[in-house]
Amino acid sequence: MSLGYVTGMPRIFSGIQPSGELHIGNLLGAVQNWVTLQAQYECFYCVVDLHALTGAGYDPQRLAQRTREMAGGLLGAGIDPSRVTLFVQSHVPEHATLMWLLNTVAPLGELERMTQFKDKSQDMESIPAGLLNYPILMAADILLYRADMVPVGEDQIQHLELAREICRRWTARFAPERPVFPEPKPLLTAAKRIMGLDGDAKMSKSLGNTIGVTDTPEEIWQKLRPAKTDPARKTKKDPGTPEICNIFALHRHFSPPATVDEVAVKCRGALWGCLDCKRVLADNMTAALAPVRARTLDLAAHPAQVDEILGDGAQAARRVAGDTIREVQDAMGFLPAPARVETRA
Ligand code: AMP
Ligand code: TRP
Repeated sequence: MSLGYVTGMPRIFSGIQPSGELHIGNLLGAVQNWVTLQAQYECFYCVVDLHALTGAGYDPQRLAQRTREMAGGLLGAGIDPSRVTLFVQSHVPEHATLMWLLNTVAPLGELERMTQFKDKSQDMESIPAGLLNYPILMAADILLYRADMVPVGEDQIQHLELAREICRRWTARFAPERPVFPEPKPLLTAAKRIMGLDGDAKMSKSLGNTIGVTDTPEEIWQKLRPAKTDPARKTKKDPGTPEICNIFALHRHFSPPATVDEVAVKCRGALWGCLDCKRVLADNMTAALAPVRARTLDLAAHPAQVDEILGDGAQAARRVAGDTIREVQDAMGFLPAPARVETRA
């Protein structure tokens, strides 16, 4: 039975790849929302290291460190392990078990139609099946915890739709009378797509256009100083259009409303230069990130603390996951493992 029925709170699952340190794109685009949701829902948050194996940036030498760093970043950003279950995907082997079971009903045609698969496989000489099957693992993540809702950004909606389709197919085939899984719904958040400092592309670690949550005040300034602004503002005397300027967009996230209004007026009226505007942003960003930075650095200095939290999380997650797997295997007609066999790896 889903704990959600006990607590009366709908259940949420979401995952984030272990890309290492959090940057302000992750923070504003996803993680701050996770922090807000932990007060209203029963949340399972997962660092999806198995998914990361399909990415171009996968490096066995760095996977463990990046996983721990991402967990530390989530905790630093305010994820509270006393309220949520925070864990690492590979610590709960049931994810891979359920993935195989779902694999048997997942439609190949749909998998091949996924935008992310098409983009990522485009220039590959040999396409690993893991890239194609990535959304099945995502479906397994969600269904394993019988999540009611999944907070996702725009780019993951298509995968979530497929997870719903896989859920429907599995239920129709194996448990039409007594569904094991609720059909997970997307919880769309106000699309915040944070652009990189080059102003050309989404902020992303692989593009090197990020500001990390543990950057020093000086690093923040050094990154903001050359960042792209409204190209119409060649000199201080040229009026600008705040709405098209990425620095203004960042002010909206980090500066108080009165400052945002003032920035817009000064930009439109050519009352100050872009560098003045960036200086104010750098100060406000530094102040806003200070608590996240302090907590994240503290956890980075105490990795055993992070590991302990992840251990507790994995244990709690495995209890729920084990129950689901047993129901799924029962519905699929497996011979139950003899009692003396430890089925939980
Ligand atoms: P990634 O490190 O690219 O796997 O990002 C993890 C999650 O952070 C994504 O699924 C997004 O929800 C969010 N995210 C990453 N970069 C950005 C960005 N530039 N703007 C908004 N959200 C982002
Ligand atoms: N694919 C998601 C991303 O890249 C991460 C993810 C894995 C996920 N499993 C999930 C998100 C389950 C939501 C639910 O952002």
